[in-house]
Amino acid sequence: MTPSGERAYDPRVAVYPGSFDPLTNGHVDIIRRSRRLFDRVIVAILVNEEKRPLFSVAERVAMAREALAGEAGVEVDRFDGLLVDYVAGRGAGAVVRGLRAVSDFEYEYQMALMNRRLDGQVETVFMMPAEQYVYISSRLVKEVCMLGGTVRGLVPPVVEQRLRDKRAAGAAPGE
Ligand code: PNS
Repeated sequence: MTPSGERAYDPRVAVYPGSFDPLTNGHVDIIRRSRRLFDRVIVAILVNEEKRPLFSVAERVAMAREALAGEAGVEVDRFDGLLVDYVAGRGAGAVVRGLRAVSDFEYEYQMALMNRRLDGQVETVFMMPAEQYVYISSRLVKEVCMLGGTVRGLVPPVVEQRLRDKRAAGAAPGE
């Protein structure tokens, strides 16, 4: 805590939370953009087994670590419980979220305001991906790949390979 009663945080550190089931090139684009604003970006992967993800949290973390291995200042971690508690525990000053289209806005706005209510010191920063990634989502990528379509260029190569492995193993797209 600071003398004024606020918790201590590092304004150079941001948390980029999400399900990342799986990481897409849209996420990678947001991570790179975030690194222009923050010295360190923690990609925090939610342990949300109740959402029946296609990939386990261990698989999602491993893929993200491999795909982001060359990115300086980027760390991949997992979290459960409230995001604001994780952010406070890591001493971060901000949460980063990507905004693709107006359709994302309502959900994101609700979450940002709820997080602010829970912890007034957590600022949410919205970032827009490059235009070529605006239509990409983890859900669509999974669906296309599991139905036999190509996702080359939409996800990092390691993710593309793991998606193909899942398909070969007969997995359903998940949620
Ligand atoms: O990639 P997603 O699924 O859109 O990410 C959603 C995520 C992980 C950011 C959100 O579900 C979350 O923060 N969950 C942790 C639990 C929590 O803090 N819930 C209250 C959020 S207002």
